[in-house]
Amino acid sequence: MKMMVFYKSLSLLLGFFSVQTKAGREVNIATWGTPVQSTLAYNWYAQNALDGLSSTCTHTDAQSDPWWKLDLLKTYSVNSVTITNRLDCCSTRINGAEIRIGNNSLDVFSNPVCAVVSSIPAGATYSYSCRGMEGRYVIVNIPGTSKVLTLCEVGVYVIFPGNLATGRTITQSSTIGTWLGQQAIDFNPGFIQPSSSCSSTDNQTNPWWRVDLSSVYRVSRVVITNRLDCCPEQIDGAEIHIGNSLENNGNNNPICAVISSIPAGVSSTYTCNGMDGRYVSLFIPGDSKILTLCEVEVYEEGKAWTSREDNGGG
Ligand SMILES: *[C@@H]1O[C@H](CO)[C@@H](O)[C@H](O)[C@H]1NC(C)=O
Ligand SMILES: *[C@@H]1O[C@H](CO)[C@@H](O)[C@H](O)[C@H]1NC(C)=O
Repeated sequence: MKMMVFYKSLSLLLGFFSVQTKAGREVNIATWGTPVQSTLAYNWYAQNALDGLSSTCTHTDAQSDPWWKLDLLKTYSVNSVTITNRLDCCSTRINGAEIRIGNNSLDVFSNPVCAVVSSIPAGATYSYSCRGMEGRYVIVNIPGTSKVLTLCEVGVYVIFPGNLATGRTITQSSTIGTWLGQQAIDFNPGFIQPSSSCSSTDNQTNPWWRVDLSSVYRVSRVVITNRLDCCPEQIDGAEIHIGNSLENNGNNNPICAVISSIPAGVSSTYTCNGMDGRYVSLFIPGDSKILTLCEVEVYEEGKAWTSREDNGGG
């Protein structure tokens, strides 16, 4: 079954909180991207589909094949997409809209179709399952001539795998501005508003960041997402330590890997081959260093979670 009706209150809740599922945590990531639409009518901007208000909507001109495109700035495996239809009038205009997920920004119609909207009652939010389709762009388009595309809210739901760092206590050597240590484990890589969802220390000697997993795990791999906005080379030389000691802030624990470099906005995986530890720390030795982390993921031996596992795998 492709379609499922959500009660309004449930869809609102899903907009603000994430949901824990067997395979991980489901999060609406729509606001992490930047939207554009094929044309603009009135002041019904593309961004109105992401403002949390079903009373403000997007609006194209009456045109051939209108579209709305969300650039998530990174490839995600999309579990489902929700669309909220307008309440005030013309609710049948949405009929026949296609939801696409893929990587082609220029030719939006070449991206694979996840679902076709048959109809959505005025003011209602419908959810469409995309079963883990992968892509950087989410597109909604209506094929045909003299069509108007209006979207009051769009949600893009991704199931993030079971990251051991999620919800744990973070400590870092210093904090610049609002770049709190906790923002490295909030799922959001912060590519649009880095200051609100990456962590960063001050410019200092030997900066470090540490997560307390609260008990000992056998760590198989650590994934680090580097910042997109600037200076990706600041991560160069960062050491990943895993162990049970807090001596030297955990930075005397055995080293899983030393990061040589990570391109801007990229997530790199470091294999730790089952190192045991309660603490995972990142440490850059040297003077005048800044440790910025947009996401840190820690995975356990034998639990190679992927978002596809909820589709009935092992
Ligand atoms: C988009 O790119 C990702 C990563 O390269 C790839 O896994 C995925 O299959 C691509 N999606 C489509 C629809 O081609
Ligand atoms: C860090 O501080 C040093 C010494 O004050 C300075 O030379 C360097 O430019 C600073 N680095 C950055 C990225 O601000």
